[in-house]
Amino acid sequence: MEERIKQLQQEAISALHQADDLIALQDVRVKILGKKGSLTEVMKGMRDLSAEERPAIGALVNAFKDQFESSFIARQLELQQRDIAAKLASEKIDVTLPGRKTASGSLHPVTLVTNEVVEIFSRLGFAVAEGPEIEEDFYNFEALNIPKDHPARDMQDTFYISDDRVLRTHTSPVQIRTMVKHKPPIRIIAPGTVYRRDSDLTHSPMFHQVEGFLVDKRVTFGDLKGVLTHFLNEFFGKGHNVRFRPSFFPFTEPSAEVDIECVICGGKGCRVCGKTGWLEILGCGMIDPEVFKSVDYDVDKYSGFAFGMGLERIAMLKYGVNDLRLFFDNDLRFLKQF
Ligand code: PHE
Repeated sequence: MEERIKQLQQEAISALHQADDLIALQDVRVKILGKKGSLTEVMKGMRDLSAEERPAIGALVNAFKDQFESSFIARQLELQQRDIAAKLASEKIDVTLPGRKTASGSLHPVTLVTNEVVEIFSRLGFAVAEGPEIEEDFYNFEALNIPKDHPARDMQDTFYISDDRVLRTHTSPVQIRTMVKHKPPIRIIAPGTVYRRDSDLTHSPMFHQVEGFLVDKRVTFGDLKGVLTHFLNEFFGKGHNVRFRPSFFPFTEPSAEVDIECVICGGKGCRVCGKTGWLEILGCGMIDPEVFKSVDYDVDKYSGFAFGMGLERIAMLKYGVNDLRLFFDNDLRFLKQF
């Protein structure tokens, strides 16, 4: 019996050392100390021993048990530490590696151009104003000297929401909204989204305009020309030919359209400028006394000028873009260039 215990003990200890992971280690423990474990069997067998034999064998068994337990714990610790070390090694982060770049967005070219226009006019003392995109007929047409059934309404194909509510066709209603609230002197720049039933190479049903207007005593057409020429020189840089061409708007008198030499073709004529060499970029004029009447301004005391321009159009010229629709496709390859 003694021999058998010693042999078992040897086998058990070497099995502990051979166990290569925590599960195998547990298996060894079950094989030795489990219900049907070999040491358990030995202990059960002690019943059959004589009283003389029992103490010696008992001491042997206890020593076996003690050694097994402490060896088990030692091996368990060893395996646990090995696992932790392996895990640490595999999850190691090399802090010297270059970081991953996060993609950052950029401003839309129309936003860039809007900001620049606002900035230039801010330096001239203009303040920014806004108005609603769903506009009342009164502000969009009526107060701007465009009564119902007036042929001038055909100038702009309008999206009607109801009989007296429209998607604003221009930013000019901001003139009225501002003048109704404030007395002169007024200097306003009003960028915003506008809508027209129009769609081709140079027109989109939704686009952006910026309105500018100034009302004070003794404002002249010379002031208008000076301010706009200054703006165009700041925005496009000096050296682009600009022309003021007589035109008509119901809310300005006299009215003009301002053209700039096509910067796509240098004035030679291309599909963007319709082979004319010129691109119309804004409408302007002296505010019609009829408009002042509708906002209760004294027409003998005050005069003023107004202008409105398409922001996509000046963005096309500034960046040499030849198709308006590119601004609305949201193709990142296009948008990332600005
Ligand atoms: N509102 C006009 C348009 O959309 C532009 C304009 C504004 C003309 C102000 C004159 C004065 O075409």
